[in-house]
Amino acid sequence: MPLPKAELHLHIEGTLEPELAFALAERNGVTLPYATTEELREAYRFSDLQSFLDLYYALMAVLRTPEDFTALADAYLERAAAQGVRHAEIFFDPQAHTARGVSMGTVVEGLAAALDRAEERYGISTRLIMCFLRDESAASALATLEAAKPYLDRITGVGLDSAEVGHPPAKFREVYEEAARLGLRRVAHAGEEGPAEYVREALDVLGVERIDHGLRCMEDPELVERLARERVPLTLCPLSNVRLRVIDELGRHPLREMLDAGLLVTVNSDDPAYFGGYVGDNYAAVREALSLSQEQVRVLARHSFEAAFLDDDEPRRARYLAEVETYTF
Ligand code: HPA
Ligand code: ZN
Repeated sequence: MPLPKAELHLHIEGTLEPELAFALAERNGVTLPYATTEELREAYRFSDLQSFLDLYYALMAVLRTPEDFTALADAYLERAAAQGVRHAEIFFDPQAHTARGVSMGTVVEGLAAALDRAEERYGISTRLIMCFLRDESAASALATLEAAKPYLDRITGVGLDSAEVGHPPAKFREVYEEAARLGLRRVAHAGEEGPAEYVREALDVLGVERIDHGLRCMEDPELVERLARERVPLTLCPLSNVRLRVIDELGRHPLREMLDAGLLVTVNSDDPAYFGGYVGDNYAAVREALSLSQEQVRVLARHSFEAAFLDDDEPRRARYLAEVETYTF
C-alpha cells in the first residue's frame, strides 16, 4: 500500500495523457499537429516554463464538452488513488477554455461530475481551485471571477499560474481582494521562475495562505525565516522543476535544505502527463535522489494534510494524519 498523501498542486489540464488527447481529438473532430502519440511525446522536451505552456495550451483544444472534462478528471483520480492520494486540491484554468468558446459551466460541471463520485469510486476527497492566467490582464481575471459566481459552491479557492516573469502578484490585487470578500481561499504560484520578491508580494499584497512552488525563496534567508515562522506551506513539484529546467538535476533540488530550514514543504506533481510522473513518482524520485529517510518522507506526507484546505472537516484531516503516522514503509 502506498503512503497516504494529499496532492495540493495539480493542474487538471496537465493530466491530459497523449492517448486521451488523441481519443478526444477524434471524438470532437479536432486535428492535432501530431500524427501519433509517439510523435506527440517527442514534443515533451521543454527548455523553460513558456515552452511547456505553449504545448499545454495547444493540447487543450481537444477539451470541448462537459464529458471531456469528466473523463479527464476521472483518469487523474484513478491514477492518483493508485499512488496513495487520499485528498486532492485540483487547479483548473478557466480562461484557457472560455477564450476558445468553452463556457465556465461546461468546465466546472464537467469536473464536478467526476469529483462528486471521487470519494465513493477512488476514496479521494477533493477541492477545486480556479486559477487566473497571470499573463492575461487583471480585467480578464475579474471577469473570470464574475463568470464563476454561479459556481462558487463548487470552488474552494483561487490561484495564479502561467508565465510568471514580468507578471508580479500585485497585478492581481483587486481580484484577490474580491475573492477574499467572497470567502474564497487564496494561493498563488510564486518563485518558480520568478524572484523571491514575488513570494513576499503574494503573501503581503494578495494575502495568500500557500505558495505554489516557492523554490526561489531559498535566495532570501530572511524570507525563508519568515515562511518557516509563519508555517506557510510551499507546494513543491520536483519533477516539474527538472523538466522545466528550474533546477539542473533532481540531486540538486533544495527540498532537503528546505526541510532542514523548518519549511512546511509538500511534494506534488504539477502537470504529471507532461513531467514524467504522478505524485507518488515525485515522492519516490526525491527520496532516491536526495537520500531521504523514511521519517523525512513521512514528514512530507504529514505536511500535505496539514496544508490542505480541510478546515471545514477537521475530523477528516485527523483521520488522514493518523493514517500517515501509523503507515509502515
Ligand atoms: N507554472 C505556471 N503555470 C502553470 C504551471 C506551472 O508549473 N503548470 C500549469 N500552468
Ligand atoms: Zn503549477
